[in-house]
Amino acid sequence: MLHRAKIAVMSVNLTVTSHSLLSDTDLAEMRRLFDAEYRADFGDWNPAGPYGYAPADWHVLAWDGGCLVGHVGFQRRVIEVGGVEVAVAGTGGMLVAPEARGSGLGRRLLLRAQLAMTEDAEADFGYLGCRPAVVGFYESAGWVRIRARESHTDRLDPTRTMVNDSSPIMICPALRPVTDWPSGDIDLRGGAW
Ligand SMILES: CC(C)(COP(=O)(O)OP(=O)(O)OC[C@H]1O[C@@H](n2cnc3c(N)ncnc32)[C@H](O)[C@@H]1OP(=O)(O)O)[C@@H](O)C(=O)NCCC(=O)NCCS
Repeated sequence: MLHRAKIAVMSVNLTVTSHSLLSDTDLAEMRRLFDAEYRADFGDWNPAGPYGYAPADWHVLAWDGGCLVGHVGFQRRVIEVGGVEVAVAGTGGMLVAPEARGSGLGRRLLLRAQLAMTEDAEADFGYLGCRPAVVGFYESAGWVRIRARESHTDRLDPTRTMVNDSSPIMICPALRPVTDWPSGDIDLRGGAW
């Protein structure tokens, strides 16, 4: 569905859906939203491995009527931090349609996701990696930047291990407060989100 006019963000309805229960309409609208943003640079959206990142098993969808205007997803995974196992909700696919940006919808999506991370996925923390330019956005929704050496499998070649010790890593509280985050190196035990 084409949707170009500026929308009233408070009338937008949020839904939370597990990946296995996405309808054909959900998937078609997600494909439209992601392809409009990324297809020219990164090719077709693939729900099983979006742009080579780890897929979500939960999705928060923002609907303006039948038109999807925002998304964030997360995947529960037990990772290792400083030799300790931690259950995180690895978060990705944060996207608000251009006509809906700047009115708090991104933050609403993150806050709804945080509730689902806690109540549905029973994760200890939310976890994501991002560009420096959007750290302030995530901070506005209560996420906190941490500093650690992170290893994960390569987005394009999963047989390779990549190490990140510079680009931003952010966490949010779920079952546990951010002050409980263990110190030490992070092994994502798979691909990044
Ligand atoms: C980043 C994005 C999700 C923000 O969504 P949004 O709905 O416009 O954000 P909100 O209106 O909820 O903004 C919440 C707060 O974050 C701030 N903010 C928004 N975008 C920001 C950015 N890129 N950098 C820093 N702060 C930002 C807003 O000013 C607002 O602050 P305030 O509470 O002081 O007013 C949206 O711009 C987008 O989809 N961009 C393209 C995809 C993208 O970059 N995704 C992130 C991938 S890691």
